[in-house]
Amino acid sequence: MENETAKKIAEETFQKTRDYHNPSLARLLKMTGYDTVEWKAQGAVITDVFGKEYIDCAGGYGVFNIGHSHPKVIKAVQEQLKKMSLSSKVFLNKPLADLAELMAKITPGDLQYSFFCNSGAEAVEGALKLARLATGRTKIISTRNAFHGKTFGALSATGRDIYRDPFKPLVGDFIHVPFGDIMAMQKIVCEDTAAVIIEPIQGEGGIIVPSDDYLIKLRKICDESGALLIADEIQTGLGRTGKMFAVDHYGVVPDIITLAKALSGGIIPVGAFVGKPKVWDAFRSNPLIITSTFGGNPLACVAAKAAIEVVLEENLCQRAIHLGNYLMAGLRDLQISYPDIISDVRGKGLMIGLELAKEGLGGVVIPEMAREGITAVYTLNNPRVIRFEPPLVITEDQIEKVLMIAEKAVKKAKTMYNRLFALEGGN
Ligand SMILES: Cc1ncc(COP(=O)(O)O)c(C=O)c1O
Repeated sequence: MENETAKKIAEETFQKTRDYHNPSLARLLKMTGYDTVEWKAQGAVITDVFGKEYIDCAGGYGVFNIGHSHPKVIKAVQEQLKKMSLSSKVFLNKPLADLAELMAKITPGDLQYSFFCNSGAEAVEGALKLARLATGRTKIISTRNAFHGKTFGALSATGRDIYRDPFKPLVGDFIHVPFGDIMAMQKIVCEDTAAVIIEPIQGEGGIIVPSDDYLIKLRKICDESGALLIADEIQTGLGRTGKMFAVDHYGVVPDIITLAKALSGGIIPVGAFVGKPKVWDAFRSNPLIITSTFGGNPLACVAAKAAIEVVLEENLCQRAIHLGNYLMAGLRDLQISYPDIISDVRGKGLMIGLELAKEGLGGVVIPEMAREGITAVYTLNNPRVIRFEPPLVITEDQIEKVLMIAEKAVKKAKTMYNRLFALEGGN
């Protein structure tokens, strides 16, 4: 594309976003160096309207596990498009049935029944409703800084006040305890608890990995009180952490699991929650107690089935472990060289968080990385943490480039920090 045409598209898209969609988002994107227009994407690379390439370390916050525009998913969708894209909702739906069977096979333990919807928040809503119905109890325990979505039920489980307070009153009977604190769970979970909802690794909370026995003990606490355990694997699922599901690291089988993001194969939105038969029984008396017009549509279902097959066929769990170790080791070396800029590097597989020593440093590191062709962004509930969640198909060469550019950005942040420090010292 001609540079002048690209420039016109970029300017117009910025103006329309500012004037007709979200003025403060347009401003934020400009400030952070993301005010260009995404144009196409393949594998681990996004290309903007000017032809500039970015290695995608934001990874759609967990959407693009199998890479952008995977040919197998595109082919499945194109073939389904020729037949029928949305469901009539009056007949049996083969793509849905095939996907549900595959979900039962890949999810842990005796998780068996799936409901399909269109987003993560919707999957969380369904899981919470099922928990209340199956137990006849109302209390839901969640964790501080958790992120479960922004619809009313999901937001009630989400644990950050700046997103919750403007919309109060939220759904009642939700209690938040510190993440990773098993004693706090022990104290609060009791005979009137319907469910504990937990991200096995907090994503938007800042890539927080709990101790190895946390989920195992939490499972036991739930069993003792009759509360259900809901694992929100919307960000951790489908190979991201090095196992198909993050709970698989600990051998824990939740009663309900929620999925979305990577389940779409990066092509068609889809969400789901999967439950054990003993829990799902609660839905039996009314087959229409939970429905969604677009949920379980054939296009989304063939995309999800193909995406799961890609994770299995391309050994993406193994790849996430191997490349995750490689990227984490490189970032830890960087932490050793710049301890006053980077305070921690943590994660599992290719779900990695780099914690900055001070919040404002991200304002230098993130735009600098974007300028050099790497997408990397904050976690939503913890602005000191930059996430690295690239597609699991990223190559070692691409990771080396990411590390080289990250070092450049951190070096720049250090120079600016020192200058500021000197100025403050001079005052
Ligand atoms: C763990 C988790 N749960 C739920 C959600 C909400 O998903 P959606 O944005 O599709 O509603 C997210 C989104 O980031 C998430 O990370």
